[in-house]
Amino acid sequence: MNVTMVMISSVDGKTTRGNNPNVYLWSSPEDQRFFFSLIKKNNLIVMGRETYEASKKVIRLEEKKLRILLTRNQKKYLKESIDGQLEFSNESPKNLIKRMSGSGYKKMLLVGGGTINGLFLKQNLVDELYLTVEPKIFGTGKDIVAGQLLNTKLKLISVKKLNKTGTILLKYVINK
Ligand SMILES: NC(=O)c1ccc[n+]([C@@H]2O[C@H](COP(=O)([O-])OP(=O)(O)OC[C@H]3O[C@@H](n4cnc5c(N)ncnc54)[C@H](OP(=O)(O)O)[C@@H]3O)[C@@H](O)[C@H]2O)c1
Repeated sequence: MNVTMVMISSVDGKTTRGNNPNVYLWSSPEDQRFFFSLIKKNNLIVMGRETYEASKKVIRLEEKKLRILLTRNQKKYLKESIDGQLEFSNESPKNLIKRMSGSGYKKMLLVGGGTINGLFLKQNLVDELYLTVEPKIFGTGKDIVAGQLLNTKLKLISVKKLNKTGTILLKYVINK
């Protein structure tokens, strides 16, 4: 299974502006276009429960695109799940990847947030990272990775300037 992590941050490394979970308030249209093109290309999308809550309004469920929400409280979401489109799971990242590979999926898009990113990185399960850096400074906010001490080594593959203000899209591969 090829796992791609995708995140957007400010220049000072914040993935939210303070406690506001809505990243669409500050992400550039160019990044949004890029992000939605990735969503379009991927049929298996994994996220944390808090990320799901934050982006519920913009998620458009579709056939043949499975979104998996990681939560330790699956029961709470039983009514929201839709077969083949929206699942709630408390599996470990390793078990989830194993199960999804068994179901024929070859790639997974990991869309955050920091807690879930940390769980996957800790187990060395991420292959590549797209990181958009918006030319903004927030001072406080969430981090790309939360709750783990890591020593993950990356290799920069490409740098793309997405617009005139200087939104930068970085692509890394992760040494495994
Ligand atoms: N800038 C970006 O690119 C970007 C991307 C994504 C998200 N965000 C922002 O980041 C924020 C969320 O980040 P976050 O790190 O706090 O949360 P998160 O990673 O989205 O989700 C954390 C949740 O995952 C569940 N979880 C934790 N450990 C687990 C485990 N071992 N097994 C299964 N589930 C587990 C827990 O849900 P339960 O409490 O239900 O168990 C926990 O609350 C949001 O504000 C969102 O807008 C930003």
